[in-house]
Amino acid sequence: MSVISYSIDVRKKVKEFFDEKQKKAIEEAQERRNEVHLRVPGIAEIDDALAKTGLKVYAEALKKGNPVPLEDRIEALHEENRELQSARADILKEAGYSADYTKPRYECKKCNDTGYVGIDPCECLIKALRRESYLNSGLGAMLTDQSFENFDTSLYPEKSRKMMEFILSQTKKYAEDFGKEDCGKNIMFYGGTGLGKTHLSTAVAKKLIDRGFYVVYDTALNIMHTFERERFSKIDVPVTTDKYFECDLLIIDDLGSEFANSFTHATLYNILNTRLCADKGTVISTNLSSIDAMRKAYDERIVSRVIGSYRSFGFVGEDIRLNTRKQNLSGNK
Ligand SMILES: Nc1ncnc2c1ncn2[C@@H]1O[C@H](COP(=O)(O)OP(=O)(O)O)[C@@H](O)[C@H]1O
Ligand SMILES: [Mg+2]
Ligand SMILES: [Zn+2]
Repeated sequence: MSVISYSIDVRKKVKEFFDEKQKKAIEEAQERRNEVHLRVPGIAEIDDALAKTGLKVYAEALKKGNPVPLEDRIEALHEENRELQSARADILKEAGYSADYTKPRYECKKCNDTGYVGIDPCECLIKALRRESYLNSGLGAMLTDQSFENFDTSLYPEKSRKMMEFILSQTKKYAEDFGKEDCGKNIMFYGGTGLGKTHLSTAVAKKLIDRGFYVVYDTALNIMHTFERERFSKIDVPVTTDKYFECDLLIIDDLGSEFANSFTHATLYNILNTRLCADKGTVISTNLSSIDAMRKAYDERIVSRVIGSYRSFGFVGEDIRLNTRKQNLSGNK
């Protein structure tokens, strides 16, 4: 797993977080040191002597004409160092402190809060990158509630179940293969509301974030608002539309629910086209019930772009929300 595929924003934020954590651990250790220097006689002198070991080793290395071999002289310094450490630990213990009282207390013992073990990213760094990417994705709580694991095909009526099982397996495969050579990067989910389109899109997002991709989720309505604000606002607004072009996977939810005009059509075409040219992935969900409905709602350029480069899946069944409610009701009788 590579760290560099996460967005710059995410990496920057996580780096700051790690730097801060490390700095805090070191500062707090320094405070505890100052405390024992004040309270426990002898420790300040020992720390002073310990701090000079490095310099002494360096000085020995520069000395010429000493009959004792350099290695032995350095070993003698190390021995002196160990004795000082052990005396220090004894004195601290005597005074009621643990021997490591003045050592920094890092949250992660594997990487001492640096995020790296050697050159490899530490588990805690990967976790932090994922957590930050979740926050940054726009998916919020959906990421904890909706996954492949809890996508339940038994909720669909008998005649729709086979189709939904097929869509689930194909979508899973899409998320697992994303980024590999010769694997399609674009899919479209269409069909009525409450059939699990957003749920499956979220499941894809989660999987790809865990795999280290930069994922952005947003509704078509929101995306258009963001572009409009940037384009037509009288005051300077910060540019936040870059992410729609830069992310590895963009999820456009509820396409067709946004108001349509020539600006939104041009914007949508621009997003889809730019992403296709840059070989970036897009998942579109739409409540439009068919490609024909799409043809009516959008101009031909957009529709042919989507038809030509997307695998589309038609969701079938009955509104899951109503379904689960019905089941709950009958269960409560
Ligand atoms: N197959 C499923 N298994 C479990 N929960 C589902 C399933 N399909 C939909 N849901 C749940 O039903 C609700 C509506 O689904 P959603 O994905 O928003 O539908 P759509 O986007 O197609 O309108 C959500 O809370 C979702 O988690
Ligand atoms: Mg939806
Ligand atoms: Zn770590």
